[in-house]
Amino acid sequence: MSASAADMVTIGEPGDVRRWCDVRRSDGRRIGFVPTMGYLHQGHLSLVELARQAADDVIVSIFVNPLQFGPSEDLGRYPRDFARDSARCRSAGVGLLFAPTVAQMYPRPIATTVEVPALGEGLCGRDRPGHFAGVCTVVARLFNIVGPCVAVFGQKDYQQLAIVRRMVLDLAFPVDVLAGPIVREADGLAMSSRNAYLTAEQRRAATVLSRALERVQQQAREGPLTSETVQGLVAELVATEPLVRLQYVQMVDAATLAPLDNSTFDGEAVVALAAWVGDTRLIDNVLL
Ligand code: PAF
Repeated sequence: MSASAADMVTIGEPGDVRRWCDVRRSDGRRIGFVPTMGYLHQGHLSLVELARQAADDVIVSIFVNPLQFGPSEDLGRYPRDFARDSARCRSAGVGLLFAPTVAQMYPRPIATTVEVPALGEGLCGRDRPGHFAGVCTVVARLFNIVGPCVAVFGQKDYQQLAIVRRMVLDLAFPVDVLAGPIVREADGLAMSSRNAYLTAEQRRAATVLSRALERVQQQAREGPLTSETVQGLVAELVATEPLVRLQYVQMVDAATLAPLDNSTFDGEAVVALAAWVGDTRLIDNVLL
């Protein structure tokens, strides 16, 4: 059983989080952990629900991690609403909200970084150098603070999920990684904290991304797809929306993220894309 809504505690000091978790684990309880950067939406809350089902006590972390933002990216304007996030966590049955300041998270300049270059250099890694090293470094630190747990990540950030899974295997973190399906708005747009940046017109135009992926899925049901066909289909549809600029679309092996260039592949594939809608970079993907 998770802690009742009234029991949620908010902690900023990593050492206090570790003690909270150790006490529960010593009582035989399993910790479920959902790392986030806040501005929580239904997608995050679905991950909390998965954590509740898989564990006895749920921790959510809210930390906008400077290490994973490039110098020209949106760290300064990343949306934040701590009061609303806290209320949402409380009513979702979260036991501990870990909300460190930058100084609490990184009490000294970071001299150690974690990277998974084999999975981190393609797709979004090409356009966001250093991003996945920043993600892995903070996630490794969070895993060491929380300790043994089941950690839940969303499939919307598919490359991040694959990288974290590989990091956990390679570095033997005592963490079971669970994946939560993408949660979409009624019109198909994948939920993202960054959707808050969109104007009404951009918001409408952005639905072309999920429509393009849906078309790929339909086509895949009719027979094997080549990478070229996928790219053609998506580019053609996205080009009908002048407000949307496709950055990449690629079909990759779901586990290794290796690009798939022919139709002979019979394992699980992912078609992932990124696009600019005005100044907002959105990502989406679909599993085939
Ligand atoms: O997916 C996110 O919100 C972030 O990349 C994560 C995993 C919390 C690390 O900062």
